[in-house]
Amino acid sequence: MLPAYIPNSMAAVFGGGRPIDGGRVMKDGRRILGDGKTYRGLFAGIVCGVLLGLLQTALLIPVSELLDISFPSFSGSGSSTMVVLLSLASGSLFGDMFKSFFKRRLGMQRGASLPLVDQLDFVLGAWIFTYLSCTGWFIMNFTRNVMIAVLVISPLLHLTTNVIGYLIGVKKEPW
Ligand code: CTP
Ligand code: MG
Repeated sequence: MLPAYIPNSMAAVFGGGRPIDGGRVMKDGRRILGDGKTYRGLFAGIVCGVLLGLLQTALLIPVSELLDISFPSFSGSGSSTMVVLLSLASGSLFGDMFKSFFKRRLGMQRGASLPLVDQLDFVLGAWIFTYLSCTGWFIMNFTRNVMIAVLVISPLLHLTTNVIGYLIGVKKEPW
């Protein structure tokens, strides 16, 4: 899940500049996505997610041998590392963007809190993208127990990193 987690944090660090919706509003008078979804955040996030996945791939064998634990890899079952990593990283930020679209339709301002949805949008986005583009790899790695663990750990990790992001000043709200 790391290549799906890190894009969110890196979007907050590197984000800013031109919003993806170009400032446009919909018929309801609200922004399509809002100023919290920018091209810079999207691209920096995806690049960082893929780079982290490549680093994990390079460390896979040495770390497995060192700890004597077998870790899963980002390829196999007919899928290549690059496609898996791009799906995890982009799916995560598209899930986040999709959520912002619905927040705006509900009349929620940029940054308003939507509990659980804010903490799991990126997980669902990453899973859907990866399931669609790398079905065999997804089924092989995201078994029921792994998915339950991810659903429990992700919100806790998300809240912790967001409080840190808020304290160091890269996030406007601590959620
Ligand atoms: N960010 C970005 N581009 C993205 C995603 C995030 O630039 N595609 C940056 C923005 O600066 C954003 C910050 O990361 O404010 C935190 O992201 P998030 O909490 O998802 O955005 P919010 O500002 O809370 O907006 P929303 O209410 O739409 O979720
Ligand atoms: Mg937010």
